[in-house]
Amino acid sequence: MSGPFTYPETVPAMHAHLRERLKDVVPDFELKLKAEVAVEVNRLKREKNAIILGHNYMEPALFHSVPDYTGDSLYLARVSAKAQAQTIVFCGVKFMAETAKSLNPTRKVLLPSAKGGCSLAESITAAEVRELKALYPGVPSVTYVNCYQEVKAEVDYVCTSGNAEEVVKHILAQGHRKIIFLPDEYLAANVARQTGMAIVYPERNGKLSKAAEPAGAEKVMIGWRGRCEVHDKFTVGDVTNARKQFPDVLVLAHPECSPDVVKASDYAGSTTQMIKFVEEMKSGRYLLLTECTMGDNIASRNPQREMIRLCSVRCPHMNEISLEETLESLRHDRYEITVDEDVRLRSMTSLERMLAIG
Ligand code: 13P
Ligand code: SF4
Repeated sequence: MSGPFTYPETVPAMHAHLRERLKDVVPDFELKLKAEVAVEVNRLKREKNAIILGHNYMEPALFHSVPDYTGDSLYLARVSAKAQAQTIVFCGVKFMAETAKSLNPTRKVLLPSAKGGCSLAESITAAEVRELKALYPGVPSVTYVNCYQEVKAEVDYVCTSGNAEEVVKHILAQGHRKIIFLPDEYLAANVARQTGMAIVYPERNGKLSKAAEPAGAEKVMIGWRGRCEVHDKFTVGDVTNARKQFPDVLVLAHPECSPDVVKASDYAGSTTQMIKFVEEMKSGRYLLLTECTMGDNIASRNPQREMIRLCSVRCPHMNEISLEETLESLRHDRYEITVDEDVRLRSMTSLERMLAIG
């Protein structure tokens, strides 16, 4: 997590800046074109009193040339809550921009793509959360931040991959023995394992019904069958094969990967926690089981670490956000994010708990 950053203001200086970071991953003619766009983005940013927040999954040229702050969902939510600029351009996906708008409602929040979805956010609706809560009355509920604001308005806590374990431990410390954890099946299972909880998934046969709980289970997590379409691609076989091919490799997994993949890896954490892990090591070879752009972003800042490159595991939603779309977003004030005020107010307690824990 980092920022605030400043960037060169002329095209030749920006070109040199990008070349220094990206000469091993992007051809020079492309860097020259990107430098022209980036300089204009930064000029408009000043003119319009805007800041840009860049998620760790942004394409390398964008990541290294325009964001005032870069980081994971939790860090960017914290930055957006305190942002003073009139406009926040969120280079990430829609649920992140909605979180920013909810935390700082007097700012204009722009998402550079009209799409910017997320398979996890699409996996659950507010009506389904209400149905689940009616099935388990009085059970505290947590949602992963990767969902839309209407869902956040229905639960007691929001968490990110950066503080999911802490949020669950915080609830258990209050004496609760059951927790509803939505919507990511794998994140829930990974956190259940870390906190010694059994996990069950309610079944839907027309209407939702309770799942049988393992006999003698002291603490039970009630999950949901949402998955990240990107992290779902990694298998234990991929990890085994990579270790055979690169015997000295350290494997890092995002906790949206399946519990078996996480178990087969050397470390699991949020995108920023993975970056920190690599940066705190002096050297070595790493494979990141996450959205593939991040490997390039780390490699460009840490030439002495060897990142094993993936380029086919790209999030189609993050991929919607480019430097060019960011320029159009600033030029035309698009696409403005709005959140219904009633929904926003109902989501504030759970969001504030997310910012406070971990
Ligand atoms: P982080 O909060 O770890 O940045 O993850 C966000 C995300 O969407 C991962 O796929
Ligand atoms: Fe959603 Fe997965 Fe893309 Fe992250 S990587 S934004 S969880 S689809």
